[in-house]
Amino acid sequence: GDSLKFLAKPSSDCTPYFLAPCFPRASPSKPETKWPSWSFGQKALRSLLMRPIYITTPIYYVNGEPHIGHAYTTIAADVLARYHRLRGRAVRFVTGTDEHGQKIERKAREEGLSPRAFVDRLVPIFRETWEMLDCEPDDFIRTTEKRHESFVQALWKRCAERGDIYLGHYEGWYSVIDEAFFTDKDVVDGRVRDTGHPVERVREPSYFFRLSRYEKQLLEFYESHPRFVEPEGRFNEIKSFVRQGLEDLSISRTSFRWGIPVPGAQDHVIYVWFDALANYLSALGGLAEAPLARFWEPEAEVIHLIGKEIVRFHAVYWPAFLMSAGLPLPTRIFAHGWMTVNGAKMSKSAGNFLTPGPLVQVMGSDALRFYLMRDVPLGSDSDFNHLAFLQRYHGDLSNGLGNLAQRLIRGIVSQALDGRIPRPPLGRMEDIDRLVVEKAMRASEEAASHYEDIAPHRALEAIWQLVGEANRYLDRTEPWSLLKRGQRERLEVVVFTALEALRWLSILLWPVMPKKCDALRAQLGLPAIMPIEGLDAWPKAWGGIGPELRTRPGEALFPRLEENTQKAFLSRFGLSLAPDTSDASSKASKALSVPTPPSESSKPAQKGTIRIEDFEKIEMRLGLILEATRVEGSDKLLELKVDVGEAEARTILAGIAEHYAPEELIGRRIVVVTNLEPRKFARFGKTSYGMVLAAKDDHGLSVLSPDKAIAQGAKVS
Ligand code: ME8
Ligand code: MG
Repeated sequence: GDSLKFLAKPSSDCTPYFLAPCFPRASPSKPETKWPSWSFGQKALRSLLMRPIYITTPIYYVNGEPHIGHAYTTIAADVLARYHRLRGRAVRFVTGTDEHGQKIERKAREEGLSPRAFVDRLVPIFRETWEMLDCEPDDFIRTTEKRHESFVQALWKRCAERGDIYLGHYEGWYSVIDEAFFTDKDVVDGRVRDTGHPVERVREPSYFFRLSRYEKQLLEFYESHPRFVEPEGRFNEIKSFVRQGLEDLSISRTSFRWGIPVPGAQDHVIYVWFDALANYLSALGGLAEAPLARFWEPEAEVIHLIGKEIVRFHAVYWPAFLMSAGLPLPTRIFAHGWMTVNGAKMSKSAGNFLTPGPLVQVMGSDALRFYLMRDVPLGSDSDFNHLAFLQRYHGDLSNGLGNLAQRLIRGIVSQALDGRIPRPPLGRMEDIDRLVVEKAMRASEEAASHYEDIAPHRALEAIWQLVGEANRYLDRTEPWSLLKRGQRERLEVVVFTALEALRWLSILLWPVMPKKCDALRAQLGLPAIMPIEGLDAWPKAWGGIGPELRTRPGEALFPRLEENTQKAFLSRFGLSLAPDTSDASSKASKALSVPTPPSESSKPAQKGTIRIEDFEKIEMRLGLILEATRVEGSDKLLELKVDVGEAEARTILAGIAEHYAPEELIGRRIVVVTNLEPRKFARFGKTSYGMVLAAKDDHGLSVLSPDKAIAQGAKVS
């Protein structure tokens, strides 16, 4: 193609194959490489499908065991990778560990170990965790590996050759927990304003990267790549951050040793983020070994899946380093929200540090993957909730999918058809059967587009339309009475239709629940799924299940959990079965014996209505207003300090200045939404950590208050 262009030759001391052939996918000087302009026929369609895709997770700090937050990202990436593999794409999926830096050096010292011994002890736990969760990365990159270290140094040299690295002196703040530099305006009372982590004063010689030089190029790039960062809100934050002006970035440290040495300046170690971000390329072999370089070439799709707290590193620093080195930029940075556990921020000291191991032991890895992908929408902040997990398990999996398979395979096919799969002529299909086909087609199309959009929760929602439909279909067609009435031909059509729907489900759900889908397929007499590059296995044609197959009834896919198991599962986290849950489970156990439609939770919500679980995601508390002041420069905003029962009062900006004088509000009890993500008011240099509820009509606005002096911090529901 015309875009195959080699970069300026690397200098002789730079390992030549690193960085050698690379193609400016989206370099600022050259617009994104266009698709070949041949007519959009078979060939183009195939090559679009074959466009290599590279999916990454952040490389996690090995300062402790991986927890449910890390598991969430890795599972989401694995789901994406599996989906694209099913589609026949060439997929590279990489995760790994970030092992350098001060945070780890200190943690190792606390444990009385050398950093090396410390990370070597922890890394296997990461690998085992991903294995336990059926995450199957193609590679696992460690930043302490030679292949990584030499690439980082090569990248450094490349940026230096471009004139983008110079020696200077850094003086400012550093947060070891965030591994990031901060200026005076980011710091309040010795802590980072945004993260709350403590800072230390740093004064040392340091190399700087000329980030300021890339301000304009970055903004132009953002402009021409409107989906570079998702969700959009995060992208807007990044754009306004860059628009406010970029300062050069300190990229080396001299006050500790645990890092990669700066080439030619052994007393400096490379800043851990310069080191870490480079993993995305070092894991491909630095771009040169032919088979892997294709994952970073212009026609490749590169998706960095990350948590929202590290967007700036990925969407500002990383592209700037790549621009400097003349390398292509990633396609998409997808930042998911932050997860709490049973409503609280996860921390070891709070006793709710949640590792995936015990969850998998009780519920199985597929159920955990399902719950995380179904209930924790990628993008927004969300909560891991043990009760919700049990409800999803029993509602969607046991009663929904599991019951469907059980009724059909162990029930009717084994008992009435001796395990034979019928193959009735298509001409015998009736409208009610065709409705199942239609639902299956729709589920397949919608799920595909949601998986492509990195919205697995939506994909699952769409797929559950089919689960619900198939269960209803069995209810309506009543195969057992067909048998009793001797309507064998009709029975065969019904069984065939329902089995085929299950076959479709075994593919549609495989990205999320690979083991259970393969178990289901074994029960259907089908082979386990083995994606093959170049072959699109997504279901499109009806009727793949054939008479040559025999069902093999097996264990229930998602057995109901005994009440004692449920209680034990919850009690570790100080939770108990709420009365309404046991209610739901008794309803559910009825559903097992009498064929009824799937549980409430798998019914689609009506447009405009939300489910109680959705409502429960909003955390509201009673607050007491301690202070109220006008925000300078704004007619609308008041800045409130509100006690919501936490150690410190919250700062909340409320657009009520036209309706209340500040002094009227002090001492008022109000209702505050406390789990809304903080909102920055960049113009006023302030951030709001909550929302005040108020009602408004033509005559004015009224802040909602209780009619009794309810204590601050009380839950509003
Ligand atoms: O930041 N909810 O590593 P890290 C959701 N080494 N996701 C969470 C989470 C939570 N509560 N907690 C962690 C680093 N995560 C750097 C990355 S990349 C070049 C270097 C997930 O160990 C989420 O994906 O702090 C987040 O971005 C990541 O773990 C941070 O992991
Ligand atoms: Mg972190």
